[in-house]
Amino acid sequence: MVSLTPRLREQRGRARRPFLAGVISRKGGGGKSVTSLCLADGCSDAGLHTMLVDADPQATLTAILLEGKANRVTLGAYLRDLSIDPVSVATPRSLLMSFVPGDHSTEQAVAELGIQACEDRLGAVLVARSATPDVAIIDTPGYLGAITDLTIAMADMLIIPTRVGGQGDMSALGTTLERIARGPHRSPAVVILPTNYAPREASQAAGLALVSAHYGAYLGTPIPHSAWIERAANVGQSVMRYAPKSNAASAYRTLIEQVVKLQGGGQ
Ligand SMILES: Nc1ncnc2c1ncn2[C@@H]1O[C@H](COP(=O)(O)OP(=O)(O)O)[C@@H](O)[C@H]1O
Ligand SMILES: [Mg+2]
Repeated sequence: MVSLTPRLREQRGRARRPFLAGVISRKGGGGKSVTSLCLADGCSDAGLHTMLVDADPQATLTAILLEGKANRVTLGAYLRDLSIDPVSVATPRSLLMSFVPGDHSTEQAVAELGIQACEDRLGAVLVARSATPDVAIIDTPGYLGAITDLTIAMADMLIIPTRVGGQGDMSALGTTLERIARGPHRSPAVVILPTNYAPREASQAAGLALVSAHYGAYLGTPIPHSAWIERAANVGQSVMRYAPKSNAASAYRTLIEQVVKLQGGGQ
């Protein structure tokens, strides 16, 4: 069991900075991109100015949200050249939501510039808009590298979507938590989010029990396996908008409520 210091309330005291929720995991396929999109839609539906940042070189969210749209300015270009007008990067999805697309250049930019310089630069991306968002959500790659470390360093909240019951899930979760504990970080709130969860499968029920026994304090409400998630993604949507009454949307709503509360300064 790794020990993580509790989040300190006053750490958001830095003015003019959005509440930053990083969605991280050592393992791909655990539901990071799905979770990021649900959070972004959920937060903007809750009336918060929301920025969604695709920091994954695989650019899943960019493919879902900007399919076929050319001439995007991506996060990598932004990190390299602060003179680019941030407004040109955003593609509104709703009036309250903006999106910073990603591609392979993010990885190179972070590797070349270094994490410290990127903290300042990503900070500038997050605030250099006509209205600083209330909350920013960052989707990250399915491995632990410089982009995830940058996210850990800056986040007020870290969400770790994870499947349970598979052989590598527990070890991936362990290494992800160790990476957070290693810091540097702002003592973010940490939520382990079981995803794609099928309680009738014995291995998954056992996996959830194991996660609960080891990391119960960080455990979020499991997101059930749901066919609506895939269907929604196929039409460029999140399940929050596509099937708001589904079990998966209700489960995500619990996480969204937590983010909304934390960004407002609550515990
Ligand atoms: N609760 C769920 N029910 C059904 N399918 C899911 C669920 N969560 C994620 N998926 C599917 O699992 C796959 C991986 O999800 P994704 O968010 O892309 O993972 P990651 O970003 O961590 O690699 C996607 O095809 C997604 O649609
Ligand atoms: Mg992804």
